[in-house]
Amino acid sequence: MSNQELFKKVLSHAKEYGFVFPSSEIYDGLSAVYDYGQQGVALKKNLRDYWWKAMVQLNNNIVGLDAAILMHPTTWKASGHVDAFNDPLIDNKDSKKRYRADVLVEDYVGKLDTKIENEVKKAAKRFGDAFDKEQFISTNPRVVGYKEKGDAILKRLGKSLEREDLADVKALIEELEIVCPVSGSKNWTEVKQFNLMFGTKLGASAESATELYLRPETAQGIFVNFLNVQKTGRMKLPFGIAQTGKAFRNEIVARQFIFRMREFEQMEMQFFIPPGTQKEWYAHWKETRLKWHHSLGLGTDNYRFHDHEKLAHYADAACDIEFRFPFGFKELEGIHSRTDFDLSSHEEYSGKKLQYFDPERQENYVPYVLETSIGLDRLFLAVFSNSLQEETLEDGSSRMVLRLPAVVAPTKVAVLPLVKKDGLPEIAKSIVEDLKWDMTVAYDEKDAVGRRYRRQDALGTPFCITVDHQTLEDQTVTLRHRDNMAQERLKLAQAKAQINETISFQNWLRAL
Ligand code: GAP
Repeated sequence: MSNQELFKKVLSHAKEYGFVFPSSEIYDGLSAVYDYGQQGVALKKNLRDYWWKAMVQLNNNIVGLDAAILMHPTTWKASGHVDAFNDPLIDNKDSKKRYRADVLVEDYVGKLDTKIENEVKKAAKRFGDAFDKEQFISTNPRVVGYKEKGDAILKRLGKSLEREDLADVKALIEELEIVCPVSGSKNWTEVKQFNLMFGTKLGASAESATELYLRPETAQGIFVNFLNVQKTGRMKLPFGIAQTGKAFRNEIVARQFIFRMREFEQMEMQFFIPPGTQKEWYAHWKETRLKWHHSLGLGTDNYRFHDHEKLAHYADAACDIEFRFPFGFKELEGIHSRTDFDLSSHEEYSGKKLQYFDPERQENYVPYVLETSIGLDRLFLAVFSNSLQEETLEDGSSRMVLRLPAVVAPTKVAVLPLVKKDGLPEIAKSIVEDLKWDMTVAYDEKDAVGRRYRRQDALGTPFCITVDHQTLEDQTVTLRHRDNMAQERLKLAQAKAQINETISFQNWLRAL
């Protein structure tokens, strides 16, 4: 399956099996807004829990918070979002379509990356076992050329954006001869900045209403509560505050399904540290977060770091963890060394001290902050698209299987009576009653058992337990495994123990 075909399959599969629906679909939907269905909400919750457990439960110096979406409007002045939360936009005069200028350039560089990957694949085939990927990438003239060209383009883009030199961004688009994907023309407008925050109003009458913003990130709810948490929790530096919740951005280029949404969910953690220690904590969180991603088992080759050339107004170092989505490597998580920018700025705007007395240093200071920030919907897309596979079986037939990491699968086991008679449904239902206290269980008695297995494969259920006539005699069941379709005959207690072992958070997160 090509990547484009895979992505189409991801969209249709997500809808057909109750994972993701377009928002308000009966009114033809709302662009870049999506609803999670009965399966999707469970997968999303499990991913959120996987993050929360690793972040909060396993670290006794990280605590949780649930701040409101609506915040005092001065928050967004202090954070810099009113003045600087902009995207550079460009319109194509022929198609009248609007694009993010930086994304057009990045997509161009993405195509160079694809060329590199194709060269590597070809060479790996040619050289077989003797192939040394690292050496090939660093010496093959064509690959080196693509790499140098891509790096130079990104460097120039980063510099131009940092200097707010939008004319140079346009010049770059023209020099690279980037065409509009819709009209195919190079007839571009100037590049302009556009603020991404959604405005709303608080209050009953038009005259007295206060202008508010829907939060564009959850981080600011953490900063304004820094002292509340530090004092009431008697927290000592270094410590972190973690939060998950909705964020809103008026994205102009909304595409690629749930990759870039107007309403989405973030999982952020702000780690408060003494000034001067940011370098070591930056390295620590880069490594820790990458390990966490690897623990999901989607393949270490599918992740890479991308260091930022253009630093946000608050950062002294920043990188993305990128994931290989069906449309190429793209940002999944950001790790930012935010200095003392946010707390200092809130001090200035609020007139309230946001400082910490360090008993070791015997001084007061505004802590520095290390941030990890991941989009839950993007994580969902990474896991879902990587797990969806079409397999050709020995008999020539094919099956769609969603090889979700068992720990986050919506349903852990489906219990199936082989036939709908002879007391088998009753036994199957009693097994459901027994298992449901420990795990999510489905019951299915409709259709032939083979079709029921396929349905569970498509939903990502890692196990099926089948009850048949032998169960009546010796209380054994068949445990069927999603990934290799193997079946084994076991006592129910053994099957239960095996499932519990496979879905245990501890086993998945132990590597951290
Ligand atoms: N507090 C820092 C911050 O918000 P960001 O890089 O703008 O940083 C962090 O966003 C993460 O949020 C991204 O890595 C991405 O996973 C997710 N994200 C950002 N915008 C998004 C959008 N429009 N739709 C879905 N996820 C988004």
